[in-house]
Amino acid sequence: MTELLEPRAMGRALVRRDGVDKVRGTAVYAAETPVDDPAYCHPVQATIARGRVTAMDTSAAEALDGVLAVLTPFDAERLADTSDGEFAVLQEPDVAFRGQLIGVVVAETSELARQAADAVRVSYAEQPHDSVLSADRDDLYKPDQVNPSFETDTAEGDVAAAMATAEVTVEHTYETAMYHNNPLEPHATTALWDPAGAGFLTLWDSTQGVHPDRAAVCQVFGLDEEQVRVVCPYVGGGFGSKGQPHAHVMLATMAARALPGRPVKLVVTRQQMFFLTGYRTPTIQRVQLAADRRGRLSAIALDVVEQTSKVKEFAEQTGVPTRMMYASPSRRTTHRLAALDVPVNSWMRAPGECPGMFGPEVALDELAEELGIDPVELRIVNEPDVDPETGKPWSSRHLVECLREGAQRFGWEPGARSRRDGDWLVGQGVASSVYPTQRQATSSANVRFTDGRYVTEIGAADLGTGAWTVLPQIAADALGVDVADVEVRIGDTRYPTASVAGGSSGTNTWGSAITVAAGAFRTKFGADPHEGDEASGDVDQAASDDEHAAYAFGAQFAEVRVHADTGEIRVPRLIGVFGAGRIINPRTARSQLIGGMTMGLSMALHENSVFDTRLGQVANHDLAEYHITVNADVGDIQAHWLAEHDPYVNVMGAKGIGEIGITGTAAAVVNAAYSATGVRVRSLPVTLDKLLPGLG
Ligand code: MOS
Repeated sequence: MTELLEPRAMGRALVRRDGVDKVRGTAVYAAETPVDDPAYCHPVQATIARGRVTAMDTSAAEALDGVLAVLTPFDAERLADTSDGEFAVLQEPDVAFRGQLIGVVVAETSELARQAADAVRVSYAEQPHDSVLSADRDDLYKPDQVNPSFETDTAEGDVAAAMATAEVTVEHTYETAMYHNNPLEPHATTALWDPAGAGFLTLWDSTQGVHPDRAAVCQVFGLDEEQVRVVCPYVGGGFGSKGQPHAHVMLATMAARALPGRPVKLVVTRQQMFFLTGYRTPTIQRVQLAADRRGRLSAIALDVVEQTSKVKEFAEQTGVPTRMMYASPSRRTTHRLAALDVPVNSWMRAPGECPGMFGPEVALDELAEELGIDPVELRIVNEPDVDPETGKPWSSRHLVECLREGAQRFGWEPGARSRRDGDWLVGQGVASSVYPTQRQATSSANVRFTDGRYVTEIGAADLGTGAWTVLPQIAADALGVDVADVEVRIGDTRYPTASVAGGSSGTNTWGSAITVAAGAFRTKFGADPHEGDEASGDVDQAASDDEHAAYAFGAQFAEVRVHADTGEIRVPRLIGVFGAGRIINPRTARSQLIGGMTMGLSMALHENSVFDTRLGQVANHDLAEYHITVNADVGDIQAHWLAEHDPYVNVMGAKGIGEIGITGTAAAVVNAAYSATGVRVRSLPVTLDKLLPGLG
């Protein structure tokens, strides 16, 4: 594969191009899109967890002055495609989970819409619901595949035989909690069904991908892609929850179609996000490890139980990293699902890898202790020469280097036991990180010369990740020009088709397409182009490699302090070292990695959607009670990376950094908490009540 010659823009810590607009408040987000005479939506949500709406009395709502429309399952338009149970809003009176959308009010103000939604009287035929996830349910089932298209189960060798004959074994069950994505910007849609009867829809939607968003809306409403424009220049975070539209986008579209010519706005409230915009399934992970006295694994197995909603299946691929992480002659992974009367779960930062790097990475720590081997060394001993799953060579794998450099930076003390510092018990913990290097199949870009500058357009998304800034760096190097002479435009379906900002694939995919377009431009027009010269390219034309197994790796080190009397937990230091290929912009990359690690810390100590199985809803459905790590919880947090140049992954040599930072972090914290206290917590989050009984 070709290397870019002498990159001059890539590798520079350029400041965010969108920074000034964001700081000044002039960056426009979906909810605040300036439109003439907007109307406001407020959803009506089911107040039972299962059953049927038998009647809706909308008269009191409709009587309020300023209410423009009230839609219910009994009168809403029939959708063209109802195959996606999440998107089929107001199509039938059945209720599949508490909080499900059963209506919408559109009014002159948002306050009035909310008041009117509360005034809708709903009668139900309620049925008993079931929202209890457990590993001993007799109705667990094996999904056909796990997200997005992995095999559900894998087996190599004989784990049971290895467990029966190994010198040392570890077998425990670990649990991760339910988590909600909670980006800073709540989900929001401004929708306009044009007045001229031409059948044209514009959506200003907070989304991780304008083109995938458009495709979903077109399918549900039976529209042609030419009839729909989706615009989204800025996104206040998504973490996967905006990677696909959720039901509210269809509801807003339906409301707009009911009021042609009138732009409508639907802003999902923070509380509603706990019902409507996806979450990470809780997981129950049974881990088995078998090893010899030197720590060499003879078996590694992960059997996962997790949940899905009944209206739409989502099978999180939690077992996937266990398939390739360590050398072991026998390996097994399985996934079983409980289909429950619960909201629709979906993508959340590193779906699969994030929960899947918890149980096994804690189990390795338990094995290290059994063996009396340092947990850093135990991981190194089990370093595979090639991908254990496929047998392919690695495109590049520097986990060992990450572990060694991290240990050195952290001041890791092999064999160190809990140290006491006044009233505080101090411990150290380590875990590995991994995330696959992906490139999506579809993405195109164009390059046009205009007013003495190069303009590149692509329907990409910047969730706060840095795409506005790094894509010009890639384009500049591909064109061989100064980055100041390049303008990149993103976030609009009028630009060439782009894939979702998901799976840490954005920069890899869009950058590959831009590089092809830039190469085509240079081939066609040379170094001295004229006004209006234009060329395009797509990712399919970019060099690709399927001879190698491509992943980013990392090692995370945590220091945990636990108060000996109160059990209070502090994490004063978190150090991650990553091998993630070429880092295109150190400033935005560091922000991504530190953000991922912070979210991993949050998973370890704070986040927990407490599901009330009597009601069938998250009890702590707001940010007062759903705790997220804040600045005061983070001490010295550092992200470092190796100078890794991977010639196989893409022309930039970049692996993607959006998700690697969160994988393994929670395990490192749990392992450090054990090192501090001798209390092994196998169920997240680590809270002081779980440590106190062991503190004596
Ligand atoms: Mo990320 S959960 O793949 O948007």
